[in-house]
Amino acid sequence: MLIAIDGPAGAGKSTVARAVADALGFTYLDSGALYRAVALAGARDPATLDIAFEGDRVLLDGADVSEAIRTPEISQEASRRATDPAVRKALVAKQRALLAHGDWVAEGRDIGTVVAPGADLKVWLTASLPERARRRGVPPDEVRERDQRDAGREHAPMVAAPDAVEVDTTGLSIDNVVRRIVGLVRERVS
Ligand code: DC
Repeated sequence: MLIAIDGPAGAGKSTVARAVADALGFTYLDSGALYRAVALAGARDPATLDIAFEGDRVLLDGADVSEAIRTPEISQEASRRATDPAVRKALVAKQRALLAHGDWVAEGRDIGTVVAPGADLKVWLTASLPERARRRGVPPDEVRERDQRDAGREHAPMVAAPDAVEVDTTGLSIDNVVRRIVGLVRERVS
């Protein structure tokens, strides 16, 4: 079974997707970490990179880059590199290989539209721009810039799948959001 959670930066995707995965006993996939690792690797060919997950840690060619990929600079660079069709092709293939076996909660920008259009449940997670900027601890302009690039790019732009359920997390607790999504999953399987 596959749950896709897409949406803009700061909507709460990572926290919520991880908690939903825990609640259901599924594995969590942070697709943004792949784009961040490519950004950290600089000019290297994304198809040759060894990016792996070990529990909560992200490994790039065997080195733990979990913290190094979370800087504001890498956030912007990941968003820039994500516009490159060669980068997307390599990372979509990697995601599909991972998702082919087992039960997953995968989060990103294009899981429900491109990576896994056949997902059992698609959630579009949003929140107001000021709240998303506050959660990320960055100026609203920085979040807006990334939104515009992610949504405006030619290849696999960030957009809600037509069959996604929209959940606006503005002013909601994580628990509340997680309960709603777990409820949606249980409705689908019952
Ligand atoms: O979710 P995140 O902030 O870690 O993602 C970092 C960048 O990676 C994001 O600005 C755009 C890109 N990305 C993408 O294009 N497609 C995804 N499925 C996930 C992330």
